Amino acid sequence: MAIQKVGVVGFGAMGSGIAQACAQAGFDVTVRDVDQAALDRGFGVVDGSLARLVKAGRATEADAKAARGRIRGTTALGDLKDSDLVIEAALEIIETKREIFAELDRICPPATILASNTSSLPIVEMAAATKRPDRVAGLHFFNPVAVMQLVEIVRALTTSEETVAALREFAERLGKRGIVCKDTPGFVVNRLLVPYLLGAIRALEEGVAAPDEIDDAVKLGLRHPMGPFELLDYTGLDINLHVANVFYDEFKDPSMAAPPLLRRMVAAGHLGRKSGRGFYEYDEKGQRKR
Ligand code: 3HC
Repeated sequence: MAIQKVGVVGFGAMGSGIAQACAQAGFDVTVRDVDQAALDRGFGVVDGSLARLVKAGRATEADAKAARGRIRGTTALGDLKDSDLVIEAALEIIETKREIFAELDRICPPATILASNTSSLPIVEMAAATKRPDRVAGLHFFNPVAVMQLVEIVRALTTSEETVAALREFAERLGKRGIVCKDTPGFVVNRLLVPYLLGAIRALEEGVAAPDEIDDAVKLGLRHPMGPFELLDYTGLDINLHVANVFYDEFKDPSMAAPPLLRRMVAAGHLGRKSGRGFYEYDEKGQRKR
């Protein structure tokens, strides 16, 4: 079945990027969030990102305008009923996701594929909340979605080969590389990334070097575009703490346990770029101050 209409649940940092990427690839997109204010914020992020792509010469004004016109906002989950594929990018709370999947299962035709953008929660638990566990999979994007070329296609124990094949084709149409992986915590990227980021925080706790020294070491010594503290601030310390907790619950491996400093920074509200302060400080536009 060819995917034409895409539904997105959640218009936050990831949902807005996903909706935009789908619209730029020519899909009609309906995005659902809880209220008009959330929808307005999401459209603001899309507008900002499209303007950046135009400024960088990566998209024409006309293409950006057409993509924006293909995204429709709604507060009613029922408006996603005509979707061929729904991508859930809501809060990383398993009960919330299971409720959303159960509701989507009720309202969408049997052929609709239901996918989650979760970065660490078990896809099979969402599949089990539906009567179509063969048509549920993970579809994990990376921030900023407009620029990042990877999508992880997560095959749960129940996911059919047909579903995996349809998602592979979908990733290709988005112009991204879709890699297929098992439904294990963190899939491929976060499984490698999270212990590395936690290791960087432990190095800081031990006084190995200051954050900017460690960041420069990684950028100049490994050619990463961002150092670990820049990346932690960029993706959000709360998100990283959540993923570390999920990993530790699952593996009971000390290298996956959240370092005390991370826990305390999140408790203090130092969440990174989005809160104005993390390992570095940011102005209201999200530009680093020092
Ligand atoms: N929308 C559109 N375009 C954007 C953008 C956005 N949100 N963010 C950056 N860009 C574009 C810029 O316009 C620029 O385009 P150009 O090269 O054609 O001029 C290009 O991306 C580079 O941006 P900048 O020059 O502003 O800055 P950088 O060179 O530092 O790049 C970055 C920014 C792309 C974010 C880069 O630093 C990077 O790749 N960082 C690593 C990001 C990363 O690792 N993401 C994965 C996080 S893990 C994750 O998401 C998983 C989840 O589960 C937590």
